[in-house]
Amino acid sequence: MQILITGGFGFIGKCLVSRLLAEGGHRITVIDKLSPQVHGDAPDLAGFADQPGVTFIKADICTPGILRTAMQGVDVIYHLAAETGTGQSMYEIQQYFQTNVMGTAILLEEMVKSPDCRPKHLILSSSRSVYGEGAYVRADQADQLNAPRHYPAGRDADDMTAGRFDFAVDGVPLVPVATVETDPADPKSLYAASKLTQEQMCQISCATVGVHFVALRFQNVYGPGQSLRNPYTGIMSIFTNILRQGGQIDIYEDGAESRDFVFVEDVVSALRAAVNLPGDAPAIINVGHGTRTTVSELVALLEAKLGTVGRSRISGRFRPGDIRHCYADIGRMQTWLGLGPLTPIEQGLSQMVDWALEQPLEADLSHKADKELGAFFGQKK
Ligand SMILES: NC(=O)c1ccc[n+]([C@@H]2O[C@H](COP(=O)([O-])OP(=O)(O)OC[C@H]3O[C@@H](n4cnc5c(N)ncnc54)[C@H](O)[C@@H]3O)[C@@H](O)[C@H]2O)c1
Repeated sequence: MQILITGGFGFIGKCLVSRLLAEGGHRITVIDKLSPQVHGDAPDLAGFADQPGVTFIKADICTPGILRTAMQGVDVIYHLAAETGTGQSMYEIQQYFQTNVMGTAILLEEMVKSPDCRPKHLILSSSRSVYGEGAYVRADQADQLNAPRHYPAGRDADDMTAGRFDFAVDGVPLVPVATVETDPADPKSLYAASKLTQEQMCQISCATVGVHFVALRFQNVYGPGQSLRNPYTGIMSIFTNILRQGGQIDIYEDGAESRDFVFVEDVVSALRAAVNLPGDAPAIINVGHGTRTTVSELVALLEAKLGTVGRSRISGRFRPGDIRHCYADIGRMQTWLGLGPLTPIEQGLSQMVDWALEQPLEADLSHKADKELGAFFGQKK
């Protein structure tokens, strides 16, 4: 197969390229601008760009004509290139919409205008962030699966400052339930808005020219190869980096906030299975582990693996705009993509840390990222 991967030198993209090379028989084109925020100023392309079967194009997907060339004759496009920091998207708005929305617009326009640039499958890496807070039910409901669902709008700074991190309705606490694809989208960041816009754009354009499209909504992806440098995204890699250099982790809120951590190899399996979806498959599929891990639990796992003790404290600080919980219902993923069993977090985290320990130490810039976000929210009247 002839396969184009935008953003193919990124964390998930590189893992996908390895899988494709292991499968054999593919001609792979990667287009990636090698964003310095993710890769530093001198990314090491050795062992990647020179592999037989891989054509590497260092370019911004928005460069006029570049996608047209790269898309000629492709069977599958994995559209992964994106700016990915939720918090950063709140102030670097043009940058996020330029790549995520305008880049997608250019790709779709090439596809629609030129039959030579029309793949059989367009597979988009979307994000759980499109759900916002995700789905909750009242804690007093016995049958949580069938209970009325609530979609909280988010927490305000007054509540968070007072330590009220959880949601309640009429004085009854709300508890998170797995978010299904039919739950409403409610983006709470410009990043999330850009990912939802990508989905809608692709869905509309692909339908007009008969290209199969699926948006895979990834939860928090982690694993070897994740940028240890980018302070704007990737809680596991940021914490690993801090612990490695003897630093202290500030656990925000009360540490009970939770995420659905899905191992990168499982995500790649989902990307590969997506090309075999039948015509009647849904166009949106969650990709997660389907379980919740609190931030305190995550830190405990990292400390156990790294052999560090007491290098974290629950600070009560918070990041404006952060969601409290979200995890995926993975029924569609299991039914349609046939995935399972998935990598347990203990196993995946162990592989991630072993890999990280072999990498050069990176400066911890997470406080810079938090400060930037704080300054933005500080300006609110
Ligand atoms: N990692 C996660 O937890 C996660 C979760 C949900 C969704 N996603 C989505 O998965 C995709 C891949 O994420 P990742 O974690 O591999 O991120 P990443 O930052 O490691 O990779 C993205 C790649 O895209 C490249 N890129 C950015 N802008 C570009 C442009 N204008 N032109 C060409 N290349 C450009 C970057 O250089 C980078 O190599 C993204 O679309 C992201 O929104 C990731």
